[in-house]
Amino acid sequence: MPQSKLFTEITVPTRSGEGLKLRNRVVLPPMCQYSVEKHDGVPTTWHLAHLGSMAHGGYSLVIAEATAVAAEGRISDRDTGLWNDEQTEAWKPITKYIRSHGAAAGVQLAHAGAKASTYGWLKEFEEAGKIGSISDEEGGWETFTSTPSELYGLKPATEMTVEQIQDSVQDWADAAKRADEAGFDLIQIHAAHGYLVHQFLSPLSNKRTDEYGGSFENRTRYLREIIKAVAAVWPENKVLGIRFSGEDWVDDGWGIADTIRIAKELYGYGVRHFDLSSAGIGKFKGPSGPGYQVPLAQAVKDSLPQDAFVTAVGVITEPVQAEHIVVTGQADGVSIGRAALGDPQWANRAAKELGAPLAFPAQYWRGRW
Ligand code: FNR
Repeated sequence: MPQSKLFTEITVPTRSGEGLKLRNRVVLPPMCQYSVEKHDGVPTTWHLAHLGSMAHGGYSLVIAEATAVAAEGRISDRDTGLWNDEQTEAWKPITKYIRSHGAAAGVQLAHAGAKASTYGWLKEFEEAGKIGSISDEEGGWETFTSTPSELYGLKPATEMTVEQIQDSVQDWADAAKRADEAGFDLIQIHAAHGYLVHQFLSPLSNKRTDEYGGSFENRTRYLREIIKAVAAVWPENKVLGIRFSGEDWVDDGWGIADTIRIAKELYGYGVRHFDLSSAGIGKFKGPSGPGYQVPLAQAVKDSLPQDAFVTAVGVITEPVQAEHIVVTGQADGVSIGRAALGDPQWANRAAKELGAPLAFPAQYWRGRW
């Protein structure tokens, strides 16, 4: 069997030049766990166990869930945060554990904007009818956005003033500083799935007439300011990444040409990891099925300098499918989400199937399938 490319090391570039070495190209994408116990944004033993099991499940880069840069930016009151010292301290043993098992530790920094203050998406909440915005009696909070809109099917959000936008840019930079202190090797700015950054990017959701709305230049201003502010505080020897919705898949929405245009610009500011998801605003009219978002990753990869680390995500479930994506140069790596929840040892099993060495922890050396 030829050597697996999926399980060949890769160095993700950093601005300092030395790069972040990954033992393979299988990434755990951010996945909200809705498991913060005291509604205080502090990660718990669940986060340690969940992310830790992925580290010794063979993933090379384990990215922690959408972690809010400000309290009002949480999707739910059970989301993690990085806006205070207590949260920063609580992440430290988690990043240490991930790294001690040979994986790099990443975190997705996020602000949900108009999609904040919801119950979150656990089955038990759905079964109890707790869907959508948290009621005021149960502690719902004011939400903020680019332009108030009915698109989200949630309670109305408040339009951000220019001053609030600028304060928010500072929140992202402060959270990046805390992510560094907490021991993360990589941050991923969440610009996808209809959350706050995407609410500014998409012409469907941004109807502003000031310098943050209208033209492409104006709709991308908030993101550009975030990246510049974050790059100023995020260490040059760590990886700066972003997740885009490459397409709204809605007529007159944000599209792949827009994504490529801003991706090129952000590369210039030091972004080196690009993860390509899609949708989140408006009525989805796109494709689905195995690997349906891979062409978005390929389009971005083909437009950027070769050293960018571009990952594909979405219904990638089979080792051979993942191997094919990297061998054919459609992406540099793959993110495996729900398949990892079903099997935290997915990456090790894929290594076995592809004839590559496993990354079992020492304690599991007798493990067999
Ligand atoms: C997600 N997803 C997600 N995406 C993101 O950018 N930030 C997040 O915090 C979450 N949270 C989340 C929770 C859960 C339980 C799931 C299943 C998904 C989306 C996820 O990262 C991924 O893009 C999709 O799941 C598609 O990939 P798979 O699952 O088809 O491999």
